[in-house]
Amino acid sequence: MPTETPLYDFLRHYAHSGTARLHMPGHKGQVIPGDPLSAVFPYDITEINGADNLFDETPAAPRDGVIAQSERLTARAYGTYATLFSAGGSTLCIQAMLALAAPPGSTVIAARNVHRAFLNACALLDLHVEWVLPRYEPGSLVGGHVDAGSLASALSHAPSARCVYLTSPDYLGCISDVKAVAAFCRQHGLTLLVDNAHGAHLKFLRPDLHPITLGADLCCDSAHKTLPALTGGAFLHVGNPTFLSRARGAMALFGSTSPSYLILCSLDRLNPLYETTLPQSLAHTADVCAELRRFLEQHGFPCTGEDPLRLTVEATRAGWDGRELANALREMGIECEYASDAHLVLMIAASTPAEDFSCLKRAFAALHPRPASIIELPDFTLPPAVMSIRDATFAENETIPTAQSAGRVCAAAVTACPPAVPVVVNGELIRNDDIKILQKYSISRVKVVK
Ligand SMILES: Cc1ncc(COP(=O)(O)O)c(C=O)c1O
Repeated sequence: MPTETPLYDFLRHYAHSGTARLHMPGHKGQVIPGDPLSAVFPYDITEINGADNLFDETPAAPRDGVIAQSERLTARAYGTYATLFSAGGSTLCIQAMLALAAPPGSTVIAARNVHRAFLNACALLDLHVEWVLPRYEPGSLVGGHVDAGSLASALSHAPSARCVYLTSPDYLGCISDVKAVAAFCRQHGLTLLVDNAHGAHLKFLRPDLHPITLGADLCCDSAHKTLPALTGGAFLHVGNPTFLSRARGAMALFGSTSPSYLILCSLDRLNPLYETTLPQSLAHTADVCAELRRFLEQHGFPCTGEDPLRLTVEATRAGWDGRELANALREMGIECEYASDAHLVLMIAASTPAEDFSCLKRAFAALHPRPASIIELPDFTLPPAVMSIRDATFAENETIPTAQSAGRVCAAAVTACPPAVPVVVNGELIRNDDIKILQKYSISRVKVVK
């Protein structure tokens, strides 16, 4: 009989069955007294009889094992044609999305605020990129919005492109107009891929701003970033049935043949929450977060971004360096997600304890805004690409001081923070203005092609 947590139920039953484990993994499910981490060993198994197989593509029989059942429950909650589990984060899903939608050697139109998982996938699949610059905040190349208008000019430069790749929300919580971008893509016969790594929770807030709801063909969510799942747990959502038959094969191409059952189980255990407690607890958390945002702003610490669960403090507008602010908070027992000179990112989730909100409020009440400072960045324009991403990635390289890199070809993208607008990406020529921007971000060494 199907249950709401088919995978967890199987693992629990097996853990207590007393079966002799003459199979992987080597810990054999043995709990070591005094070692709290080993408490989960009994649940950590491999593809034994009845445990299903994440990457089984057997076309003869429809998949109906415990993982397949669990994925179907998640697909129902997200309103997708199918949702595939990943124990390799959104990174794996991004590789799969690109393998599905962009033939090797083809061009992808991509908003520049990409995570490096995208660039790595382009290197693996030998993809070329026609970049679209998001409208980013003055003094920062971290966050930004992408609109359908800017895609039109990219398409005129790359008329053979088959798909558009968007990162929304971005690290600062900026949410682009996915609906308008999806309409543009439909009109021009382009596939829309969305990196929604930071937006798994968006489906369960109102309005529903999940990319699949708004018309994306494929999208990835890092469940582990914003929902109560183990690190590495993510979803590949299929919003266009054209990709159904090949999606699992694309995931299998890049994924480990030993995906962690603990991670998969943590995704399974989300299923009963979607239609019960999660929407309500997310709505409540969003309200508390909005209240905290108002408090910060009234207290002189302005915030940016549209994600209701992200507090991105515009540190410089409060006269602080974001890293200095992060240190001050650390001394008061708070660890933030990210800090740069311009920003401080605080990630809130439904699991954030009420005490942590009070702690944040007390901490900010003890800090005082100063006269706003301004970060002057030279105007950013796209550096010329002189090699393919793949060739530059796999070429022999060396790491040199940024100050000496003018005229060299970048071998590994350099960004202000992990998922931000890269200043230079693999294959692009580094110019004097790029060096000035890199130095502003305290990036003192870069990897270049030898
Ligand atoms: C925007 C964005 N996309 C993709 C990824 C990769 O996600 P994961 O860590 O789940 O593989 C990240 C990770 O930080 C990210 O910030």
